[in-house]
Amino acid sequence: MKIVIINSSARKNGATAKILKEIADNFSSRGNVDITNINLSDQKLDFCVGCCGCYKNGVCFIDDDAEMLSDLISNADGVVIGTPTYASSISGQLKTFVDRGHFVIEQLMKDKYTLGVVTYENADGGAVVKALKKLFVFSGAKRFEKIIVKLPFNSDPLLSPRVKAKIKNKSEKLYNAIAKRKSSNLINAITNFAVFNFGIKPFVLKKGDKYDGVKKHWKKRNINFT
Ligand SMILES: Cc1cc2nc3c(=O)[nH]c(=O)nc-3n(C[C@H](O)[C@H](O)[C@H](O)COP(=O)(O)O)c2cc1C
Repeated sequence: MKIVIINSSARKNGATAKILKEIADNFSSRGNVDITNINLSDQKLDFCVGCCGCYKNGVCFIDDDAEMLSDLISNADGVVIGTPTYASSISGQLKTFVDRGHFVIEQLMKDKYTLGVVTYENADGGAVVKALKKLFVFSGAKRFEKIIVKLPFNSDPLLSPRVKAKIKNKSEKLYNAIAKRKSSNLINAITNFAVFNFGIKPFVLKKGDKYDGVKKHWKKRNINFT
């Protein structure tokens, strides 16, 4: 199985990175796992300029790492994205990637098993988890799991046996869900269906050939839109 793990904190040995490394180690201890670890701060990612060219062409004209990262996600079975809480929201690096990564409209997470990891120091970690859940499920994710850890800045989350146990539990859950190709839970499935069929699909179809690039990606993902 293919797993992509993305750290969107600039701190490569910070709390989020440590949790993600522990998740990777848990996965590596199982057989048949191919893990790609990405630090978003090592990637070349420019801001979206809002030209809407990707809707027509299926790719962005900016020559950087955004398309490579979206392809990695598109080809994975499991996707883990970790972010610190910055000003009550996701990190700037992650927002930049999300704006460029064609998540919702192209259904980038279609049928993926996903895990969102959020760290915070005092407030709004829960709001960030909610934002990640919405992003993943609206992008077609089959399942969403979360790990949220509150801790003082610059401290080690792995010193807590409770956090280590939570990481082990969620990693196992994700591994087993992928290995057994577990189906979506009902609310997740209804949300996937409603968002696509009542929101995204009519919106895109109304745009005609200006959104041909989006439809190309739907076809690749076996999404029925006729
Ligand atoms: C610029 C900045 C903004 C932050 N904003 C918040 C915040 O709004 N709420 C909060 O609880 N913690 C906030 N924090 C604390 C971090 O979310 C927290 O320490 C996190 O675990 C850091 O993750 P990292 O070590 O992986 O970078 C902020 C930290 C920084 C540097």
